[in-house]
Amino acid sequence: MRIIKTKDYEQMSTIAADILGAQIISKPESVIGLATGSSPIGLYNNLAKRCTEGRLDFSAVCTVNLDEYVGLSPEHEQSYANFMWTNLFSKINIAPGNTHLPNGIAEDLVSECASYDELIRSLGGIDLQLLGIGHNGHIGFNEPADFFPLGTHMVKLTSSTQKANQRFFNNIADVPTHALTMGIRDIIQARRILVVVSGVDKADAVKRMLTGTVVPDMPASILQLHRDCILVADEAALSAL
Ligand code: GLP
Repeated sequence: MRIIKTKDYEQMSTIAADILGAQIISKPESVIGLATGSSPIGLYNNLAKRCTEGRLDFSAVCTVNLDEYVGLSPEHEQSYANFMWTNLFSKINIAPGNTHLPNGIAEDLVSECASYDELIRSLGGIDLQLLGIGHNGHIGFNEPADFFPLGTHMVKLTSSTQKANQRFFNNIADVPTHALTMGIRDIIQARRILVVVSGVDKADAVKRMLTGTVVPDMPASILQLHRDCILVADEAALSAL
C-alpha cells in the first residue's frame, strides 16, 4: 500500500481529489465506487469545485456507492442516497441515471443485493473504489466478522457503528439497525483503491489495518493484499505508527 501523509484534513482532501481527478482524466468513463461519512466530504467539495471551474468532467462517469441503510428511502434526510445528492451529485455534471446505490427499501432485500452485484459486473467492475474506515476497521459496512463476506449483503450494524453514526440522527433509536453493503470481494476486486482517513480517533484502526495480520476481524486489513491501494491520511491518523 502506498501511504501519503498529509498535515491535516484539508490537505488530505486536496490530494485525494487530485488522485480521483487523475483517474477520471485518464479514463473519462470510469466506474467510481463512492463512500459516505465525514471522511470524503472535503474531497467531494474539491471535486465539485473543479467541476464548476471546468477542470473535471463527470458526464461519462458512473458511480456505485458502497452501502445504504435498510429502511431509509432515498428521500430520507439521513439516507446515503440523500447524502450523495447533497454532497456531490447535485454539484457536478454527472447524469443521475449513472449514479447507483443499493436500495434500502427494496421489498426483496436478498434479490436487491444480487442485482447490485450484477450491476457492478455489467458495468465492467470498479475502476477506483474510494473508502473511509470505521473505528473498528469496517469498510463499507463490512463489520468485523469471522469470514470475509463476498458480494453485496445485509448486515446488522454493531452497537459501536450505530453509536458512531448517531451524530447524524436525533437519537440512537433512530439509527437504522441494518444496512446493505458491498462485500469485501466487490471492494477488493476494484482495480484501484483510494482510502482517506483523518483524525487521531482513527489512529489505532490505521495501525491495525497497515501492520496487523490480515483477518476478517479487522476488515480493512485485507487492503494489504491489494496491488494498487493508496492511503491518504493526515498526521493524526498516522500517529500510532
Ligand atoms: C460509515 C460508512 C463507511 C465510512 C465509515 C467511517 O459507517 N458506512 O463507509 O467509511 O463509517 O465514517 P467517517 O468517515 O464518518 O468516520
